Amino acid sequence: MKFSCGTRFSFLVLFLIAAQSVAVYAGSFHKDVQIHWGDGRGKVRDRDGKLLSLSLDKFSGSGFQSHQEFLYGKVEVQMKLVAGNSAGTVTTFYLKAPGTMWDEIDFEFLGNISGHPYTLHTNVYTQGSGDKEQQFHLWFDPTKNFHTYCITWNPQRIIFTVDGIPIREFKNSESVGVPFPKNQPMRVYASLWEAEHWATRGGLEKTDWSKAPFTAFYRNYNVEGCVWANGKSSCPANSPWFTQTLDQSGLDKVKWAQNKYMVYNYCTDKKRFPQGVPSVCT
Ligand SMILES: *[C@@H]1O[C@H](CO)[C@@H](O)[C@H](O)[C@H]1NC(C)=O
Repeated sequence: MKFSCGTRFSFLVLFLIAAQSVAVYAGSFHKDVQIHWGDGRGKVRDRDGKLLSLSLDKFSGSGFQSHQEFLYGKVEVQMKLVAGNSAGTVTTFYLKAPGTMWDEIDFEFLGNISGHPYTLHTNVYTQGSGDKEQQFHLWFDPTKNFHTYCITWNPQRIIFTVDGIPIREFKNSESVGVPFPKNQPMRVYASLWEAEHWATRGGLEKTDWSKAPFTAFYRNYNVEGCVWANGKSSCPANSPWFTQTLDQSGLDKVKWAQNKYMVYNYCTDKKRFPQGVPSVCT
């Protein structure tokens, strides 16, 4: 069995999770999402709704969104990214609320020319304001196999994990005046689109349209969340993720990922924040 979002569990928690594991990967792309963009470029590939592909060509990208909205949740999916020359493509998996004061929690994978690494871009928006980017290279080739990407969003923190390894924790720092996403329900989204200008350091690398269509695969979509209905959210009874924290081993893993694989951190970008880095960083 698979503890994709987990870091380290006591036996008791292991037990609870074992009891819950029937629910793991219970998601179905047929039932849980709508391919809302791309005019046929997004497709569910199997009868059980476990595998979906998105594609991108010169004319359009594609994407899906969850039917349900959630106020807190653990959302995960396995992804296999565009192989070969993927420069200029961006493959995403994220949570987002509507409106101009939106909240958003992002995984975005910026493609690269063949043989060069993808950049995993993470960000958190609160009330329409982002500017909290951390970017990583990965310790594997994300185009060769499926890997599990997970966002745990609970009232105290947001944890980003890759194959069960926490790479980033965004803590609720409302006590020092930093807004935290906690008032707006969000939908789950995924997309494959073209962002040559943003994704390749100012258009340095051109998207090679002779390689189109570009295709990314999503597998084993699963969400355990507090479903929003009629102006309130209700959480499933057994939700260990709702109080999940990072223990020492989890914090050590974040440190490992940041020391070895982080390529950009807004918290250390003094050029961008000459008046001092944002208070959430300190
Ligand atoms: C592409 O690869 C180079 C290293 O070869 C790296 O410096 C750059 O950040 C990568 N670009 C993206 C968009 O990931």
